[in-house]
Amino acid sequence: MNDFTEAHRISSLLEYTQTYDRSIKDPEKFWSEIADSFTWRKKWSKTLEWNFKDPNVKWFVDGKLNITENLLDRHLEDRGDQVAILWEPNDPNEKGQSITYKELHAKVCQFSNTMIANGVGKGDRVIIYMPMVPEAAVAMMACARIGAVHSVVFAGFSSSALADRINDCEAKMVLTADGNFRGAKTIDVKGLVDEALEKTTSVEKVIVYQRTKTDVKMKEGRDIWWHDAIMNMSDQHDAEEMDSEDLLFILYTSGSTGKPKGVVHTCGGYMIFTYYSFLNVFQYKPRDIYWCTADVGWITGHSYIVYGPLLAGATTIMFEGVPTYPDAGRFWEVCDKHKVNQFYTAPTAIRALQAHGLEPVQKHKLDTITVIGSVGEPINEEAWHWYHEHIGKGKCPLVDTWWQTETGGIMISALAGITPNKPAHASLPLPGIQPIIVDADGNELEGNNVEGNLCIKHPWPSILRTTYGDHERCRQTYFSTYKNMYFTGDGAKRDHDGYLRILGRVDDVINVSGHRMGTAEVENAIDEHPKVVESAVVGFPHDIKGQGIYAFVIAETDGIEEEIRQTVKKMIGPIAKPDHIQLVSGLPKTRSGKIMRRILRKIASKDTDNMGDTSTLLNPEVVEEIIKGAH
Ligand code: PRX
Repeated sequence: MNDFTEAHRISSLLEYTQTYDRSIKDPEKFWSEIADSFTWRKKWSKTLEWNFKDPNVKWFVDGKLNITENLLDRHLEDRGDQVAILWEPNDPNEKGQSITYKELHAKVCQFSNTMIANGVGKGDRVIIYMPMVPEAAVAMMACARIGAVHSVVFAGFSSSALADRINDCEAKMVLTADGNFRGAKTIDVKGLVDEALEKTTSVEKVIVYQRTKTDVKMKEGRDIWWHDAIMNMSDQHDAEEMDSEDLLFILYTSGSTGKPKGVVHTCGGYMIFTYYSFLNVFQYKPRDIYWCTADVGWITGHSYIVYGPLLAGATTIMFEGVPTYPDAGRFWEVCDKHKVNQFYTAPTAIRALQAHGLEPVQKHKLDTITVIGSVGEPINEEAWHWYHEHIGKGKCPLVDTWWQTETGGIMISALAGITPNKPAHASLPLPGIQPIIVDADGNELEGNNVEGNLCIKHPWPSILRTTYGDHERCRQTYFSTYKNMYFTGDGAKRDHDGYLRILGRVDDVINVSGHRMGTAEVENAIDEHPKVVESAVVGFPHDIKGQGIYAFVIAETDGIEEEIRQTVKKMIGPIAKPDHIQLVSGLPKTRSGKIMRRILRKIASKDTDNMGDTSTLLNPEVVEEIIKGAH
């Protein structure tokens, strides 16, 4: 098998250092050399055009391509019969699927033709609200093939959250399923879609994949079963020619204010960076079996279940279930069953499994694993050591990968076995990535032993291009805090050895079980309850989830905590339900009426010994009351 990836895989620390230096000296030359090895319909005329003021970033300007020709067609000759997607269902007794590159190509072509026949074309937005079945990946790639813009919505989001996203991008089509098996539960996915569509007007067609055989209502003229829709559709399709900077997808994510925003990624740059980062961080070699346990509803699923691995010609596992079903050994059973080589998961899953003890781990050999990875939130040292010792058997490199929906791909991480591992440190930037730490005024803090806000000073190929329909919001959120820099929203430290450690968000974004949420978003949901007057939400340290949600609520009556939880579930989804709700008579406010979150954060974290100066508050007396009633 031709190893076309070899030329791009860094294989020693020295090579990393040299490559990094080269990539910083001349980023355009560096990235264009990698891009040269891809299939383009027309080569770009200019590698990069950018300013961070507007912001305006364009990579591979005027280049023409279709990303699916690089994901699929390109592999047919050399690895057509190799498994591309290995699907592991929720129930271990159900048979999974192995889909080869040839078969995947045919499925994507067939579904491309199906979407076109149902009125979707280049530039149209398509919502994918599906369980973790291979068809979800097929749907993403079919969109990319016909030039439609996909927006995957995590199937755990509520109908109301789904409706907001459909409306924001004015989606023309929804791809969904009858239901979703999640552990012992079955979720009525189609029912949620029906509810959402009552609040939207743009959707013309809904294609429904049959997964759970649940009884669902099909609306005449709008809803079609997937199996009926694909019948008689050809499995040949000529991919649409796309510009490098045409939209590939929109993915909604939470910020510190207001509604979730649609992060926009484009075809050319995203392709190059997800491929390159996948290959190098995980040190993927031909024939390896790679497993990322994320859901395709998150950026991790986009970049490191679907796009990165398939661009590199990998075998990627898609897992429908949850880590603890039917028991806490499921991940490890799947690792042995499929002889997994690279395993990539979130710290919250590790902490949850750690709580079940070693027995579920010891039943399995785990002897094929060579690399383990972590993503989504800071990994605490205890979880790091447990993961490294019991899953990595003390010998596998553990890559702690820092990145964001907005960055499209992994920015700071060890390259497995190539650059050194350090517990709880994301460590070193990938080639082409220029992170800097700044103080509150935006001055760069050079040298080691410094701590501040993490920024990036030069564009990389998969940087977000805009927030859908609201470019000004993109500018303000990421490019206005510090001049000429992309601001990540994270704090970071460069330690005495020069390794980076991510300290967590410095804004009002919280990270609950690796799920990103805006405190304002949760407050808005709580405020929907008719008896709620005002609320303030903060994060607090949580043993398993990393952060939990603590809500301080002023309400007209007592005893409505459970109702508030249900309201939040309805507005956002179960992942946003507060862990603690404390009904209070007032919230600490400054004289200008701003809630003093610093104080609430301390109370929620049980760190009340030194509350700092509260005398400038409008209502200092409320602080004592809140402390007394806290959890
Ligand atoms: O705070 C950082 C945290 O997750 C945020 C990004 O969340 P999201 O866009 O949902 O993407 C998650 C998957 C890439 C970041 O701003 N984060 C992500 N990875 C790490 C992390 N914090 C510490 N260490 C990490 N490895």
